[in-house]
Amino acid sequence: MAGSGTAHLRPEAERALVVDDLVVEYPAGRGTVHAVSGLSLDLLPGETLGILGESGCGKSSAGRAVMQLPPPTSGEVRLGDVDLTALPARRMRAARARMQLVLQDPVSALNPRRRVKDLVVEGLEIWGWGERDRDRFVDELLSSVGLDPATVRDRRPHELSGGQCQRVCIARSLALDPDVLICDEPVSSLDVSVQAQILNLLERARERLRLSMIFIAHDVAVVKNISDRVLVMYLGKTCEVLPSASLEAALHPYTRLLLASVPESSGAEDAADPADPADPAAAVVGELPSPLAPPSGCRFRTRCPLATERCAAEEPVLREVRPGQFTACHHVEES
Ligand SMILES: Nc1ncnc2c1ncn2[C@@H]1O[C@H](COP(=O)(O)OP(=O)(O)OP(=O)(O)O)[C@@H](O)[C@H]1O
Ligand code: SF4
Ligand SMILES: [Mg+2]
Repeated sequence: MAGSGTAHLRPEAERALVVDDLVVEYPAGRGTVHAVSGLSLDLLPGETLGILGESGCGKSSAGRAVMQLPPPTSGEVRLGDVDLTALPARRMRAARARMQLVLQDPVSALNPRRRVKDLVVEGLEIWGWGERDRDRFVDELLSSVGLDPATVRDRRPHELSGGQCQRVCIARSLALDPDVLICDEPVSSLDVSVQAQILNLLERARERLRLSMIFIAHDVAVVKNISDRVLVMYLGKTCEVLPSASLEAALHPYTRLLLASVPESSGAEDAADPADPADPAAAVVGELPSPLAPPSGCRFRTRCPLATERCAAEEPVLREVRPGQFTACHHVEES
Protein backbone atom coordinates (compact mmCIF):
# COMPACT_ATOMS: atom_id res chain seq x y z
CA MET A 1 0.00 0.00 0.00
CA ALA A 2 2.54 2.52 -1.09
CA GLY A 3 0.52 4.91 -3.28
CA SER A 4 0.73 8.61 -2.39
CA GLY A 5 -3.07 8.75 -2.11
CA THR A 6 -3.32 6.15 0.64
CA ALA A 7 -2.49 8.35 3.63
CA HIS A 8 -6.12 8.39 4.79
CA LEU A 9 -6.52 4.60 4.95
CA ARG A 10 -7.03 3.24 8.45
CA PRO A 11 -4.96 0.41 9.90
CA GLU A 12 -7.84 -1.51 11.48
CA ALA A 13 -7.89 -5.15 10.51
CA GLU A 14 -11.68 -5.33 10.47
CA ARG A 15 -12.16 -3.07 7.46
CA ALA A 16 -15.04 -4.30 5.29
CA LEU A 17 -13.56 -2.93 2.06
CA VAL A 18 -10.18 -1.66 0.98
CA VAL A 19 -9.55 -0.09 -2.43
CA ASP A 20 -5.92 0.58 -3.15
CA ASP A 21 -4.57 2.66 -6.03
CA LEU A 22 -7.50 1.99 -8.37
CA VAL A 23 -6.95 2.99 -11.99
CA VAL A 24 -9.69 2.98 -14.64
CA GLU A 25 -8.74 3.83 -18.21
CA TYR A 26 -10.79 3.51 -21.38
CA PRO A 27 -9.26 3.29 -24.83
CA ALA A 28 -10.47 6.16 -27.06
CA GLY A 29 -9.21 6.21 -30.63
CA ARG A 30 -5.47 6.73 -30.36
CA GLY A 31 -5.76 8.09 -26.82
CA THR A 32 -6.77 6.95 -23.36
CA VAL A 33 -9.51 8.30 -21.09
CA HIS A 34 -7.99 8.60 -17.61
CA ALA A 35 -11.27 8.22 -15.71
CA VAL A 36 -9.83 7.17 -12.32
CA SER A 37 -6.13 7.65 -11.55
CA GLY A 38 -5.06 6.04 -8.29
CA LEU A 39 -8.12 6.14 -6.03
CA SER A 40 -7.74 4.60 -2.57
CA LEU A 41 -10.42 4.27 0.08
CA ASP A 42 -11.57 2.05 2.90
CA LEU A 43 -14.77 1.33 4.77
CA LEU A 44 -15.41 0.03 8.27
CA PRO A 45 -18.45 -2.16 8.92
CA GLY A 46 -21.52 0.07 9.16
CA GLU A 47 -19.70 3.12 7.81
CA THR A 48 -20.82 5.33 4.92
CA LEU A 49 -18.29 7.05 2.69
CA GLY A 50 -19.69 9.72 0.41
CA ILE A 51 -17.97 10.36 -2.92
CA LEU A 52 -18.52 13.87 -4.17
CA GLY A 53 -17.47 15.47 -7.42
CA GLU A 54 -18.85 17.09 -10.53
CA SER A 55 -20.14 15.22 -13.57
CA GLY A 56 -17.43 13.30 -15.43
CA CYS A 57 -14.92 13.16 -12.56
CA GLY A 58 -14.97 9.34 -12.51
CA LYS A 59 -17.38 8.50 -9.67
CA SER A 60 -19.36 5.83 -11.54
CA SER A 61 -16.25 4.39 -13.17
CA ALA A 62 -14.78 3.96 -9.69
CA GLY A 63 -17.97 2.39 -8.30
CA ARG A 64 -18.21 -0.09 -11.16
CA ALA A 65 -14.51 -0.97 -10.94
CA VAL A 66 -14.82 -1.69 -7.21
CA MET A 67 -17.60 -4.15 -8.16
CA GLN A 68 -15.29 -5.57 -10.90
CA LEU A 69 -17.91 -4.59 -13.50
CA PRO A 70 -15.63 -4.48 -15.42
CA PRO A 71 -12.43 -5.02 -13.41
CA PRO A 72 -10.20 -1.93 -13.12
CA THR A 73 -7.18 -1.33 -15.34
CA SER A 74 -5.07 -1.78 -12.20
CA GLY A 75 -5.27 -1.55 -8.43
CA GLU A 76 -6.46 -3.78 -5.67
CA VAL A 77 -9.94 -4.29 -4.19
CA ARG A 78 -10.22 -6.32 -0.99
CA LEU A 79 -13.58 -7.33 0.43
CA GLY A 80 -12.88 -8.50 3.98
CA ASP A 81 -9.88 -10.74 3.46
CA VAL A 82 -10.71 -11.61 -0.18
CA ASP A 83 -8.67 -9.91 -2.90
CA LEU A 84 -11.23 -9.56 -5.69
CA THR A 85 -8.66 -8.58 -8.29
CA ALA A 86 -6.86 -11.91 -7.82
CA LEU A 87 -9.97 -14.08 -7.64
CA PRO A 88 -10.57 -16.81 -10.24
CA ALA A 89 -13.75 -16.20 -12.29
CA ARG A 90 -15.57 -19.18 -10.75
CA ARG A 91 -15.34 -17.63 -7.26
CA MET A 92 -16.08 -14.10 -8.41
CA ARG A 93 -19.87 -14.49 -8.56
CA ALA A 94 -20.21 -15.41 -4.88
CA ALA A 95 -17.76 -12.72 -3.80
CA ARG A 96 -19.48 -10.09 -5.91
CA ALA A 97 -22.84 -10.91 -4.31
CA ARG A 98 -21.39 -9.56 -1.06
CA MET A 99 -21.30 -6.13 -2.75
CA GLN A 100 -24.39 -4.70 -4.36
CA LEU A 101 -24.89 -1.73 -6.62
CA VAL A 102 -27.92 0.57 -6.41
CA LEU A 103 -28.15 2.73 -9.53
CA GLN A 104 -29.61 6.06 -10.52
CA ASP A 105 -32.30 4.79 -12.87
CA PRO A 106 -34.29 2.11 -11.04
CA VAL A 107 -36.83 1.55 -13.81
CA SER A 108 -34.30 0.47 -16.42
CA ALA A 109 -32.43 -1.63 -13.81
CA LEU A 110 -35.44 -3.96 -13.62
CA ASN A 111 -36.52 -6.51 -16.24
CA PRO A 112 -39.84 -5.05 -17.45
CA ARG A 113 -41.37 -8.48 -18.09
CA ARG A 114 -40.91 -9.88 -14.60
CA ARG A 115 -43.15 -9.41 -11.59
CA VAL A 116 -41.92 -7.79 -8.36
CA LYS A 117 -42.08 -11.11 -6.47
CA ASP A 118 -39.63 -12.65 -8.97
CA LEU A 119 -37.46 -9.55 -9.35
CA VAL A 120 -36.60 -9.28 -5.66
CA VAL A 121 -35.22 -12.84 -5.48
CA GLU A 122 -33.73 -12.89 -8.98
CA GLY A 123 -30.13 -13.00 -7.73
CA LEU A 124 -30.77 -15.73 -5.15
CA GLU A 125 -30.34 -19.46 -5.46
CA ILE A 126 -33.89 -20.37 -4.45
CA TRP A 127 -34.10 -23.85 -5.93
CA GLY A 128 -35.31 -26.23 -3.29
CA TRP A 129 -37.20 -23.52 -1.41
CA GLY A 130 -40.83 -24.39 -0.76
CA GLU A 131 -43.29 -21.93 -2.29
CA ARG A 132 -44.48 -20.83 1.12
CA ASP A 133 -40.93 -20.06 2.35
CA ARG A 134 -40.20 -18.13 -0.81
CA ASP A 135 -43.42 -16.09 -0.57
CA ARG A 136 -42.78 -15.33 3.09
CA PHE A 137 -39.21 -14.21 2.29
CA VAL A 138 -40.42 -11.98 -0.57
CA ASP A 139 -43.08 -10.40 1.64
CA GLU A 140 -40.58 -9.74 4.43
CA LEU A 141 -38.20 -8.10 1.98
CA LEU A 142 -40.92 -5.93 0.47
CA SER A 143 -42.15 -4.86 3.91
CA SER A 144 -38.58 -4.05 4.98
CA VAL A 145 -38.31 -1.49 2.18
CA GLY A 146 -41.69 0.05 2.96
CA LEU A 147 -43.75 -1.60 0.21
CA ASP A 148 -47.09 -3.31 0.83
CA PRO A 149 -46.52 -6.89 -0.36
CA ALA A 150 -50.19 -7.54 -1.18
CA THR A 151 -50.30 -4.46 -3.44
CA VAL A 152 -47.02 -4.76 -5.33
CA ARG A 153 -46.10 -8.48 -5.30
CA ASP A 154 -47.70 -9.25 -8.67
CA ARG A 155 -46.99 -5.96 -10.41
CA ARG A 156 -44.44 -5.33 -13.15
CA PRO A 157 -42.01 -2.36 -13.06
CA HIS A 158 -44.08 -0.14 -15.40
CA GLU A 159 -46.99 -0.41 -12.95
CA LEU A 160 -44.89 1.17 -10.18
CA SER A 161 -43.63 4.71 -9.53
CA GLY A 162 -39.90 5.54 -9.77
CA GLY A 163 -39.64 5.59 -5.97
CA GLN A 164 -41.34 2.17 -5.70
CA CYS A 165 -38.98 0.77 -8.37
CA GLN A 166 -35.99 2.05 -6.36
CA ARG A 167 -37.42 0.33 -3.27
CA VAL A 168 -37.65 -2.92 -5.28
CA CYS A 169 -34.02 -2.47 -6.41
CA ILE A 170 -32.92 -1.95 -2.81
CA ALA A 171 -34.92 -5.02 -1.68
CA ARG A 172 -33.21 -7.07 -4.41
CA SER A 173 -29.81 -5.94 -3.20
CA LEU A 174 -30.63 -6.64 0.45
CA ALA A 175 -31.95 -10.12 -0.43
CA LEU A 176 -28.36 -11.17 -1.07
CA ASP A 177 -27.30 -10.11 2.44
CA PRO A 178 -24.39 -7.96 1.22
CA ASP A 179 -21.61 -6.47 3.33
CA VAL A 180 -21.18 -3.44 1.09
CA LEU A 181 -23.73 -1.35 -0.81
CA ILE A 182 -22.51 0.99 -3.54
CA CYS A 183 -25.17 3.59 -4.23
CA ASP A 184 -24.51 5.55 -7.43
CA GLU A 185 -26.75 8.65 -7.39
CA PRO A 186 -29.65 6.56 -6.04
CA VAL A 187 -32.06 9.47 -5.68
CA SER A 188 -31.14 11.88 -8.45
CA SER A 189 -33.73 10.58 -10.92
CA LEU A 190 -36.54 10.57 -8.36
CA ASP A 191 -39.15 13.19 -7.54
CA VAL A 192 -37.97 15.54 -4.83
CA SER A 193 -40.83 14.39 -2.59
CA VAL A 194 -39.59 10.77 -2.52
CA GLN A 195 -35.84 11.43 -2.33
CA ALA A 196 -35.82 11.86 1.46
CA GLN A 197 -37.85 8.65 1.90
CA ILE A 198 -35.33 6.61 -0.10
CA LEU A 199 -32.41 8.18 1.79
CA ASN A 200 -34.09 7.28 5.09
CA LEU A 201 -34.66 3.75 3.86
CA LEU A 202 -30.97 3.35 2.96
CA GLU A 203 -29.94 4.78 6.32
CA ARG A 204 -32.24 2.38 8.20
CA ALA A 205 -30.97 -0.60 6.18
CA ARG A 206 -27.38 0.40 6.91
CA GLU A 207 -28.06 0.56 10.64
CA ARG A 208 -30.13 -2.64 10.80
CA LEU A 209 -27.74 -4.76 8.74
CA ARG A 210 -24.47 -2.98 9.67
CA LEU A 211 -23.88 -2.41 5.97
CA SER A 212 -20.91 -0.44 4.74
CA MET A 213 -21.94 2.04 2.08
CA ILE A 214 -20.31 4.04 -0.66
CA PHE A 215 -22.70 6.84 -1.52
CA ILE A 216 -21.89 8.55 -4.82
CA ALA A 217 -23.58 11.84 -5.63
CA HIS A 218 -22.96 15.36 -6.76
CA ASP A 219 -25.37 16.96 -4.31
CA VAL A 220 -23.22 18.29 -1.46
CA ALA A 221 -26.07 18.51 1.07
CA VAL A 222 -27.27 14.94 0.47
CA VAL A 223 -23.75 13.48 0.67
CA LYS A 224 -22.97 15.40 3.84
CA ASN A 225 -26.13 14.24 5.52
CA ILE A 226 -25.85 10.52 4.79
CA SER A 227 -22.07 10.02 5.10
CA ASP A 228 -19.68 9.57 8.00
CA ARG A 229 -16.75 10.69 5.84
CA VAL A 230 -16.61 12.40 2.47
CA LEU A 231 -14.09 11.83 -0.30
CA VAL A 232 -13.93 14.62 -2.87
CA MET A 233 -12.83 13.67 -6.38
CA TYR A 234 -11.65 15.84 -9.22
CA LEU A 235 -10.77 14.50 -12.65
CA GLY A 236 -10.07 10.97 -11.43
CA LYS A 237 -8.09 11.90 -8.33
CA THR A 238 -8.80 12.41 -4.64
CA CYS A 239 -8.56 16.05 -3.52
CA GLU A 240 -9.67 15.69 0.05
CA VAL A 241 -11.04 13.16 2.56
CA LEU A 242 -12.63 14.37 5.78
CA PRO A 243 -15.35 13.65 8.33
CA SER A 244 -18.66 14.96 7.00
CA ALA A 245 -19.18 16.78 10.30
CA SER A 246 -16.17 18.97 9.40
CA LEU A 247 -17.03 19.42 5.72
CA GLU A 248 -17.42 23.18 6.23
CA ALA A 249 -13.79 23.23 7.42
CA ALA A 250 -12.55 21.78 4.12
CA LEU A 251 -9.24 23.24 2.97
CA HIS A 252 -8.86 22.09 -0.63
CA PRO A 253 -9.75 24.96 -2.99
CA TYR A 254 -11.99 22.64 -5.04
CA THR A 255 -13.95 21.43 -1.99
CA ARG A 256 -14.31 25.04 -0.88
CA LEU A 257 -15.77 25.99 -4.25
CA LEU A 258 -18.18 23.03 -4.14
CA LEU A 259 -19.35 24.21 -0.72
CA ALA A 260 -19.82 27.72 -2.07
CA SER A 261 -22.33 26.30 -4.57
CA VAL A 262 -24.61 25.10 -1.74
CA PRO A 263 -27.41 27.58 -1.03
CA GLU A 264 -27.11 29.42 2.28
CA SER A 265 -30.24 27.75 3.65
CA SER A 266 -28.62 24.30 3.41
CA GLY A 267 -26.59 24.72 6.56
CA ALA A 268 -25.38 21.93 8.78
CA GLU A 269 -28.76 21.32 10.37
CA ASP A 270 -31.00 21.20 7.33
CA ALA A 271 -28.48 19.89 4.85
CA ALA A 272 -30.66 16.82 4.34
CA ASP A 273 -33.17 18.73 2.30
CA PRO A 274 -32.89 17.26 -1.18
CA ALA A 275 -35.52 19.72 -2.38
CA ASP A 276 -32.71 22.21 -2.66
CA PRO A 277 -30.34 20.60 -5.16
CA ALA A 278 -27.30 22.59 -6.19
CA ASP A 279 -25.02 22.18 -9.16
CA PRO A 280 -21.78 21.40 -7.32
CA ALA A 281 -19.67 22.85 -10.08
CA ALA A 282 -21.63 26.11 -10.28
CA ALA A 283 -19.03 28.07 -8.35
CA VAL A 284 -16.07 26.55 -10.24
CA VAL A 285 -15.04 28.72 -13.17
CA GLY A 286 -14.31 27.09 -16.55
CA GLU A 287 -14.75 23.63 -17.98
CA LEU A 288 -13.57 20.30 -16.59
CA PRO A 289 -10.41 19.54 -18.63
CA SER A 290 -10.52 16.48 -20.88
CA PRO A 291 -9.66 13.23 -19.11
CA LEU A 292 -7.85 12.31 -22.35
CA ALA A 293 -5.09 14.77 -21.42
CA PRO A 294 -5.29 15.72 -17.72
CA PRO A 295 -3.22 18.77 -16.66
CA SER A 296 0.28 18.12 -15.31
CA GLY A 297 0.98 18.50 -11.60
CA CYS A 298 -2.26 19.24 -9.79
CA ARG A 299 -5.20 18.34 -12.01
CA PHE A 300 -7.24 21.22 -10.58
CA ARG A 301 -4.68 23.88 -11.44
CA THR A 302 -6.40 25.14 -14.62
CA ARG A 303 -9.41 26.25 -12.56
CA CYS A 304 -7.82 26.94 -9.19
CA PRO A 305 -7.72 30.53 -7.90
CA LEU A 306 -4.56 29.74 -5.87
CA ALA A 307 -2.53 27.96 -8.59
CA THR A 308 1.19 28.71 -8.87
CA GLU A 309 4.03 27.38 -11.03
CA ARG A 310 4.69 24.69 -8.47
CA CYS A 311 1.14 23.37 -9.02
CA ALA A 312 1.94 22.71 -12.72
CA ALA A 313 5.27 21.07 -11.98
CA GLU A 314 4.56 18.91 -8.99
CA GLU A 315 1.61 16.72 -8.08
CA PRO A 316 0.38 17.40 -4.52
CA VAL A 317 0.13 14.35 -2.27
CA LEU A 318 -2.68 13.69 0.14
CA ARG A 319 -1.49 14.55 3.66
CA GLU A 320 -3.14 14.85 7.06
CA VAL A 321 -3.71 18.53 7.71
CA ARG A 322 -5.90 18.08 10.79
CA PRO A 323 -6.80 14.88 12.63
CA GLY A 324 -8.85 12.79 10.21
CA GLN A 325 -8.69 15.41 7.42
CA PHE A 326 -6.49 14.70 4.40
CA THR A 327 -5.89 17.27 1.68
CA ALA A 328 -3.86 17.17 -1.55
CA CYS A 329 -2.82 20.79 -2.13
CA HIS A 330 0.51 22.63 -2.10
CA HIS A 331 -1.08 25.76 -0.69
CA VAL A 332 -3.35 24.49 2.07
CA GLU A 333 -2.11 27.16 4.44
CA GLU A 334 -3.41 29.94 2.16
CA SER A 335 -6.77 28.26 1.51
N1 LIG B 1 -17.26 3.08 -21.13
C1 LIG B 1 -16.58 4.23 -21.31
N2 LIG B 1 -15.78 4.42 -22.38
C2 LIG B 1 -15.09 5.57 -22.54
N3 LIG B 1 -15.14 6.62 -21.69
C3 LIG B 1 -15.95 6.48 -20.60
C4 LIG B 1 -16.70 5.29 -20.36
N4 LIG B 1 -17.41 5.46 -19.20
C5 LIG B 1 -17.09 6.69 -18.74
N5 LIG B 1 -16.21 7.30 -19.58
C6 LIG B 1 -15.60 8.63 -19.40
O1 LIG B 1 -14.88 8.57 -18.19
C7 LIG B 1 -15.01 9.81 -17.48
C8 LIG B 1 -15.61 9.55 -16.13
O2 LIG B 1 -16.96 9.13 -16.32
P1 LIG B 1 -17.91 8.67 -15.12
O3 LIG B 1 -19.20 8.25 -15.70
O4 LIG B 1 -17.19 7.68 -14.29
O5 LIG B 1 -18.08 10.04 -14.29
P2 LIG B 1 -19.14 10.44 -13.16
O6 LIG B 1 -18.35 11.17 -12.13
O7 LIG B 1 -19.88 9.24 -12.72
O8 LIG B 1 -20.09 11.45 -13.91
P3 LIG B 1 -21.67 11.74 -13.67
O9 LIG B 1 -21.77 12.57 -12.41
O10 LIG B 1 -22.09 12.48 -14.88
O11 LIG B 1 -22.37 10.41 -13.52
C9 LIG B 1 -15.86 10.71 -18.36
O12 LIG B 1 -15.01 11.50 -19.13
C10 LIG B 1 -16.62 9.74 -19.24
O13 LIG B 1 -16.95 10.32 -20.48
S1 SF4 C 1 -2.10 22.30 -5.54
FE1 SF4 C 1 -2.19 24.32 -6.46
S2 SF4 C 1 -3.64 24.12 -8.17
FE2 SF4 C 1 -3.89 22.35 -6.85
S3 SF4 C 1 -5.55 22.89 -5.50
FE3 SF4 C 1 -3.67 23.43 -4.44
S4 SF4 C 1 -3.27 25.56 -5.00
FE4 SF4 C 1 -4.81 24.80 -6.41
MG1 LIG D 1 -21.92 8.73 -12.71
